[in-house]
Amino acid sequence: MSDALIQIAYLASVCCFIVGLKKLSGPKTARTGNALASLAMLIAIVAALLDHQVVSFPMIIAGFILGGVAGAIFALKVEMTAMPQMVALFNGFGGIASAIVALSDFATPRPEGVEGIVFASALAIGISVVIGAVTLTGSLVAFGKLQGLVNSAPITYSFQKLGNALLFLAIVALFIPFCGEGHPGWAIVVMMLLSLGLGILLVIPIGGADMPVVISLLNSYSGLAACATGFVLNNQLLIIAGSMVGAAGIILTVLMCDAMNRSLTNVIFGAFGAADSTGAASGEQRSVTKYSVEDAMMTLENASQVVIVPGYGLAVARAQHITHELGQMLEKRGITVKYAIHPVAGRMPGHMNVLLAEADVPYEQLIEMDTINPEFEYTDVVLVLGANDVINPAARTEGSPISGMPILDVDRARTVMICKRSLSPGFAGIDNELFYDEKTMMLFGDAKKTITDLVETLRNGS
Ligand code: TAP
Repeated sequence: MSDALIQIAYLASVCCFIVGLKKLSGPKTARTGNALASLAMLIAIVAALLDHQVVSFPMIIAGFILGGVAGAIFALKVEMTAMPQMVALFNGFGGIASAIVALSDFATPRPEGVEGIVFASALAIGISVVIGAVTLTGSLVAFGKLQGLVNSAPITYSFQKLGNALLFLAIVALFIPFCGEGHPGWAIVVMMLLSLGLGILLVIPIGGADMPVVISLLNSYSGLAACATGFVLNNQLLIIAGSMVGAAGIILTVLMCDAMNRSLTNVIFGAFGAADSTGAASGEQRSVTKYSVEDAMMTLENASQVVIVPGYGLAVARAQHITHELGQMLEKRGITVKYAIHPVAGRMPGHMNVLLAEADVPYEQLIEMDTINPEFEYTDVVLVLGANDVINPAARTEGSPISGMPILDVDRARTVMICKRSLSPGFAGIDNELFYDEKTMMLFGDAKKTITDLVETLRNGS
């Protein structure tokens, strides 16, 4: 294949990546976006294979089958709630793959007449190896924390930040010998080992609950590692695609921090989730009114608008399908049903959109926080399913751990029905005043069981 055709294929691939990424930003277009991005990847792979006239196709096909089968098995088996840790693993592997490609370029002897490694490519190799190694071990720790394999609480000790800063400076200092005369191999090996250590040390002080933000940040790192490898190989596609991943990851990180009203520095260095940051264990005994499924049914049947607020508990209970069924039953009774989507409800970006899309809830019924908030005061019933922090009015109180976090103003509705198993706090570990409000009906129990009972009661009552 001629060089011009390969460059055109790369260009087509980049265009598909850009349009695919754009389409992934909305639930309606996300599926097309995903398909376009996959097509872009296919074009990129084919063009790269032809570009480099790869001789060992059997090895590549073997790797393709091995990786493809492993990926397919993981993707089919993984629970929706375990998606963040799967993404963490993908990021880690992506980062180290970039580092290994850069390293192999360093290790490959140049044929006679071809220029050896120059300063710029040594710099790119070093950057790729450092970022790739940090991404690998950081992602593995994030995976371990989310999977419960290691303690998810923040691990902190004296002079931790200073130690990490010194380690980082040592890695930077190693660029001097590596980029200098002779490009000694020991320098890149030591850089890699120190970077593997740095990845672990950077992530252990971060609490398990903040891992989704960390994973998004590590996703950005894996993009930067790929971009650096693009410079090593002089491959424009890798440079562009890598910088897109880097930029998308950092934008997502910032959006997640904004939605929690926390700075990135607070997430990375704040040790959120440590024992002293919770306010739940006040020891105060208060009572709430428990309601039955029959009480709930009567209230729902008399409503003209019901807004359903899904949260992390809905995902845990896997109650999305039965919730949609309930919504449809209410609509048949002439009740307007909408779903309020908080940007950080659940444990990963777009978690609620994905869950409800899986249950075929029409996109038009999924209403973003800023649009639905003014509607709550005209809403008869808000049905909160396994959500807690995203509806907690404590966010409006100065000094609260979630102070300033934008919330769904469900307390402005006439009746608030909250379905959860107990009075336990959510991710932020703080009590929720709304449970004790007189307009609140607590429906204790697993979300799937409660909604199934509601659906049965409605069915039998009709
Ligand atoms: P949370 O505040 O974590 O509350 C979830 C609630 O679900 C819990 O209080 C739990 O109460 C309940 N629950 C668990 N299993 C249940 C089940 N089987 N049936 C019914 N209820 C169940 O969730 P949220 O309101 O969605 O807020 C998300 C939180 O995660 C926010 O604080 C956000 O900042 C944080 N966060 C989100 C992200 C992203 S990107 N989404 C990233 C990082 C952090 P019981 O145990 O009493 O049932």
